[in-house]
Amino acid sequence: MTTDGNQAVTLILGIETSCDETAASVVENGRVVRSNVVASQDALHERYGGVVPEIASRAHIERIGPVIDDALRIAGVEFNQLDAIAVGNRPGLIGSLLVGVSAAKAMAWSAGKPLIGIDHVRAHLYAASLLDGSGSPVTLRENAPNEPETQYPALGLVVSGGHTSLYELDAPTELRLIGRTIDDAVGEAYDKAAVILQLGYPGGPKLDLLAQTGDANAYKLPRSLLNKQSLDFSFSGLKTALLYTVRGYPKRRGDESYFEKSADELTDRQRRDMAASFQAAAIDALIIKLRRAHDQMAGGGRKPESLIIGGGVSANSLLRQRVVELGGELGLCVHLPRMAYCLDNAAMIAGLADHEFRLGHFDDLSLPAVATISS
Ligand code: KG4
Ligand code: ZN
Repeated sequence: MTTDGNQAVTLILGIETSCDETAASVVENGRVVRSNVVASQDALHERYGGVVPEIASRAHIERIGPVIDDALRIAGVEFNQLDAIAVGNRPGLIGSLLVGVSAAKAMAWSAGKPLIGIDHVRAHLYAASLLDGSGSPVTLRENAPNEPETQYPALGLVVSGGHTSLYELDAPTELRLIGRTIDDAVGEAYDKAAVILQLGYPGGPKLDLLAQTGDANAYKLPRSLLNKQSLDFSFSGLKTALLYTVRGYPKRRGDESYFEKSADELTDRQRRDMAASFQAAAIDALIIKLRRAHDQMAGGGRKPESLIIGGGVSANSLLRQRVVELGGELGLCVHLPRMAYCLDNAAMIAGLADHEFRLGHFDDLSLPAVATISS
């Protein structure tokens, strides 16, 4: 711990390599982002239309050293000033996770610094607490212009390429899973929908942009709600409904099924309207479950004070607008991450690790990389 005047300052280095972004960041006192370096691998995976695990882990090995060096240099922090080394060690692609975990262990061991393993999905929920400390322009968060500390209990939603999960939170480090997808994650559904509509890679942001120019009522697509009480999600039916809207119902010829129509035949107008209709259905399903979770918490005497959103899909224009409206209606303070912290990054890892650091929760060199979600 260093001091700034009379104030104690903690500086934590975060490392994130769970999927296809190699990232490192230095965060001060859990909230002020001193650097946020992300080396995207999009260009390497684009031709395959998705992340190729073997290519991802090899690219992490090449990039991790320079990315960490850049994060320290931009932050203006010497290695020996760090209080701890934090790493996203679960869940993710095992070969990718191992690169970050090995780097973090090597640094922690060689410098005698505490090592802290962080759950990637939980870190996404922390991203909305991060402030921009680099002096670059800041977009104030909707509904929270004064950057207040999050009030608890809170309702949290993580929407990413691998997860769609609802949590009840009592603190950044104390959360309970109350709902999750039973099939595709919402980001995965966006990416697949973008493939069906032939929009290119990465699909989510492209579909979002196109949807803003279309008519959301042009096509009727399903909002899967499961049973009346359920807080779980399902997006595979929506994806299939879009596929049939684009290509018609599959026909059979002997043992084979085939489509009569191709996405090549879509007009510009149809493509925009389908994107908008898909986006409306996907986001509606999220909003309906958020409202239901709020009502169930309130009914149990734990009305949430805040609504926290995180993960790649929290960059979505319609979701951002709809959660702000929902927060206004239900009297919740809405915390959305700045755009820089929606997608995978290491600042969210370092920020959440600051709370574990203050609680004295450290890991030793046996810290494993774990591919599956904890809960
Ligand atoms: O959190 P993230 O970077 O990685 C995971 O942990 O999965 O999320 C990536 C996901 C991808 O599926 C991407 O298509 C989606 O977030 N995404 C979006 C938008 N920006 C990113 N989906 C919808 N609208 C967006 N604007
Ligand atoms: Zn993520």
